[in-house]
Amino acid sequence: MIRSQANRLLTPEFPKGRFMTPDLQRAPRIAITATFLGLLGTGVALAHGADGGVAVAVEGAPSWSLSPVYHILMAHFPVGLWVTAYLFILIRCFSDAEFAVRLQRAIWPVAALGTLAGFVTYGLGLTIYPWSAITESPLGRNHIMLATWTLSYWTVMTVLGYRFRRHLFEGAQRWITLVLATIGAAVITITGTLGGSLGGTPSLVTKSLSWIGWNVYETFYLPTWMLVVFGLGALVLVALGVMGRRKRA
Ligand code: HEM
Repeated sequence: MIRSQANRLLTPEFPKGRFMTPDLQRAPRIAITATFLGLLGTGVALAHGADGGVAVAVEGAPSWSLSPVYHILMAHFPVGLWVTAYLFILIRCFSDAEFAVRLQRAIWPVAALGTLAGFVTYGLGLTIYPWSAITESPLGRNHIMLATWTLSYWTVMTVLGYRFRRHLFEGAQRWITLVLATIGAAVITITGTLGGSLGGTPSLVTKSLSWIGWNVYETFYLPTWMLVVFGLGALVLVALGVMGRRKRA
């Protein structure tokens, strides 16, 4: 009985005796290489940080910081990789050509590398100023808020991309994928522009946010009713997921 059930699970992708896709088989090697590179980068940053860092005197507790250059340098990687993943998604959503399908296969690895670089960038961002100092500034808080949003969002997008792959572009689903990815591209753009404003180089994007009523130099407030709407929205999504799963089973 168990054997016949197991046989039903055999597909061309998973023939007998092979339990992992080639992607999964390569995953440990990719993870080890990426971790090694991350550690190497952190080591280099720490080694150079001693002289380049900002000397910070905090009453009561000793503190240290790394020069902003490491964060600024690293930030280009998640920005570049996530925007590239968005470009591939955009092409795939509007085309079924072989070229677009080939690009589709690269989406989740590119997004995953972006997410990995995003975690390192986030960590380096935290080392520039003491938490109490950066959170004194509304612009600083807004940058952290958007960075947290962006990182969480692309982490979920990476998992979705890995888990559902080509199914994300089947039928009407591709337009949902397009909307989700466009939100991802928007939040990384805002995170980057707020970072630029923090460093003293505001872009036109920062200015254009004021046209939609958000002054990024002031504390971001969300009305309490909006939080309730968010909470309800999350519950509805979970319920839809559970119902959909039951229906398919
Ligand atoms: C995914 C996460 C993040 C991304 C993509 C990101 C991106 C950026 C970018 C693009 C800049 C502007 C660089 C430039 O001037 O050329 C920047 C600046 C900055 N970021 Fe972030 N950031 C992230 C997370 C954080 C976090 C978590 C913090 C602090 C808790 C932080 C603190 C800063 C500060 C203080 C600056 C100004 C540095 C300076 O020029 O003095 N960032 N960030």
